[in-house]
Amino acid sequence: MALRNIRIFGDDVLRKKCKEVTEVTPRTKQLIEDMLDTMYESEGVGLAAPQVGIVKRIVVIDIGDGPVIMINPVILEQSGEQTGDEGCLSLPGKAAIVKRPNYVKAKAYDENMKPYEIEGTELLARAICHELDHLDGILYSDRAESEPVDVQYDDEE
Ligand code: NI
Repeated sequence: MALRNIRIFGDDVLRKKCKEVTEVTPRTKQLIEDMLDTMYESEGVGLAAPQVGIVKRIVVIDIGDGPVIMINPVILEQSGEQTGDEGCLSLPGKAAIVKRPNYVKAKAYDENMKPYEIEGTELLARAICHELDHLDGILYSDRAESEPVDVQYDDEE
């Protein structure tokens, strides 16, 4: 198990537009494993590569149904609306209310560069939107209706 340092709000890397992945090398696979370890250790439900300082279009998500690995993800469809609390491992201990679509369908590649599609509602839809935003340098606080406030809860996104 290898943990990586999570970059915190204010770090320039969180504002970069990430690059497409063209091939999955052993280093890429190690990165993905480390991202999963880091996410689980931090009790997050998602983590994007720029949050560990890597400017590549890779995210990992687990809302409790097992790991989802998304390389070069793209949202294909979205609908509905949900309003709820959102947090981020790069803004520890904070949360704010963010509107997101209640349904999303996305395409991505898995860790073997096999393409697939995924659909999600509620928390999964929120997590997909949140993590994909990271790949374009967007943080949830950019979309929040007010400044993130201090919270104490165990399941930060
Ligand atoms: Ni985040």
